[in-house]
Amino acid sequence: MSEKSKFSGHFGFVMAAAGSAVGVGNLWRFPYLAAKDGGGFFLIIYLILVVTFGFTLLTSDIATGRKTQASAIHAYDQMDHRWKFLGVLTFLVPVIIMTYYAVIGGWITKYIVVFLTGHGAEAAADDFFTGFITSPVESSIYAVIFMVLTAIIIFNGVEGGIEKCSKFMMPVLIVLIVFTAVFSLTLKHPDSSGRVVTGIQGLGVYLKPDVSGMTVSRFLQILLDAMSQIFFSLSVSMGIMITYGSYVNKDVDLNKAVSQIEFFDTLVAFLAGMMIIPSIFVFSGKDGMAAGPGLMFVALPKVFSAMGGFGHIVGAAFFIMAAFATLTSCISVLESIVANVMEITGKPRKPVTTVLAVVYTAASVIIALGYSKFYVEIPLPNGTVGQLLDLMDYISNSFMMPFISFLSTILIGWILKPQWIIDEVEVGGVKMQRKALYTFMVRYAAPVIMILLFLQSTGLLNIILK
Ligand code: PFF
Repeated sequence: MSEKSKFSGHFGFVMAAAGSAVGVGNLWRFPYLAAKDGGGFFLIIYLILVVTFGFTLLTSDIATGRKTQASAIHAYDQMDHRWKFLGVLTFLVPVIIMTYYAVIGGWITKYIVVFLTGHGAEAAADDFFTGFITSPVESSIYAVIFMVLTAIIIFNGVEGGIEKCSKFMMPVLIVLIVFTAVFSLTLKHPDSSGRVVTGIQGLGVYLKPDVSGMTVSRFLQILLDAMSQIFFSLSVSMGIMITYGSYVNKDVDLNKAVSQIEFFDTLVAFLAGMMIIPSIFVFSGKDGMAAGPGLMFVALPKVFSAMGGFGHIVGAAFFIMAAFATLTSCISVLESIVANVMEITGKPRKPVTTVLAVVYTAASVIIALGYSKFYVEIPLPNGTVGQLLDLMDYISNSFMMPFISFLSTILIGWILKPQWIIDEVEVGGVKMQRKALYTFMVRYAAPVIMILLFLQSTGLLNIILK
C-alpha cells in the first residue's frame, strides 16, 4: 500500500476533527435539549460531562488511532486479536450512518437555495418541509448532490481534501454563528397581548437554570440526554476519531488537541443555543422550542420570515453554516468507511471512493424515498414511530454506539489497562493531563454510564424502573 496519509499538523487535525464533531447535533439538537431540559441546568451538566466523559472517549479514540496507525477493524485487531469483532461492529456504525447523512445534507442544501433565491417566506408555510421530503425526485436530487460533493472531497485525500475544506469551513462557521447569535439578541417583537418580548429575555431563558418540578427521574433523564448528546456530538465510538487519529503525527500534543476539539464543539453548540433559543422565544414564546426535530426545518424558517427583509440573510447564513457543519461531518463518516475498506482490501483511495460513492448514492436515494415511495411506519423500541431514516439513526446512534462504547471501555480499562492509552498521549515526553480522571472514567464511570444509556435508548430502562 502507498504511504499512509497524514494531516499536515496540529491545526489541520483539530479543524478536521472539530469539523466531524460540529454538525446538526450542535446546531439543532443541543439547543432543543437545552430548552427542554432546564436551560442553564442542562448547560452545567453538559459542561461537567464534556470534560470528564467526553474527554475520556475522545482521548481513547484518537490515541487508539495514532498508536495503531489503523482504522477501527485493524486497530481493534491489533489491540487484541479476540476483539476484532468490536472493530467490525464499530466499522458498521459509519456504514449505517452514511446511508442517511447525505439525505439530511440534501435537505439543508435545498433550504440554502430557497433562502438565497428569496423564497424564504414560502419555507415558513406549515407544509413546506413535508411537501419537499415527500417529493421523490426533488429530495433524491438534493441527497445525490450532497453525496457527490462529499465523495469529491474524500477523493482528494486527507490533506488535499478533508483538511483543506475543514480549515476553510470551520472558521467561516464560527464567524457566521457569532454574527447570527449576536443578532438574535437584538430582536424585539410584541407577543399576542402586545407586550414586547426581547432577545435578551430569551437569553435569560437559555442561561437561567430552571429546576422547577425536578424529580429523580427527570434528573436522570436530563443526565442521559446530555450524555447521549455528547456522544453523538463528539463523533466518538464510531471509529471516526480512530481513523482521524491514525492520520496524526507523533509530534502533535494530544492533550491540547483533545481540549481544543472539545472546546470548539461545545462553543458552537453554546452559540447555536444563543442564536436559536432567543429567536424562537421572541417570535413564538417558550412553547416554540417544543417543535423538537421539526425545529430546524419548520420552526426556524417561520422565525426568519417573521424577521422581515433581514430574515433572508440570517436564514441563508444559518443554512450555509448548517451545510458546512454537515459536510465536514459527512466527509468524516465516508472517510472512515473508505479508510477501513482501503486497509482491508489494500486498494488505493480513488477506486475505493468511487465504488463507495456509487453504493451510497443509491442508498441515499432509497432513504430519501423513505418519505414517499418507500414510506413505512416502523415502531422503534424507544416508543417512537419512524421512517427508514429514523430506523438507521436508531440502530447506529441509540443501539450500537452505547454498546460499542461499553465494550471499548472494558477493553481499554480492564484488558489492555488505561496505561496503554496514557503511553500514547505521553509519546515524546509530554505529560498527560487529567490522567487520574481518565483512569477512573475509563475503568468505572464510563462502562456504568454506557450500560445506563443503552438501557435507556432501547426502552429497557423504563421497563426496569416501572
Ligand atoms: N458529530 C456530529 C454532530 O454533532 O452533528 C454528528 C455525527 C457526525 C454523527 C459524524 C455521526 C458521525 F459519524
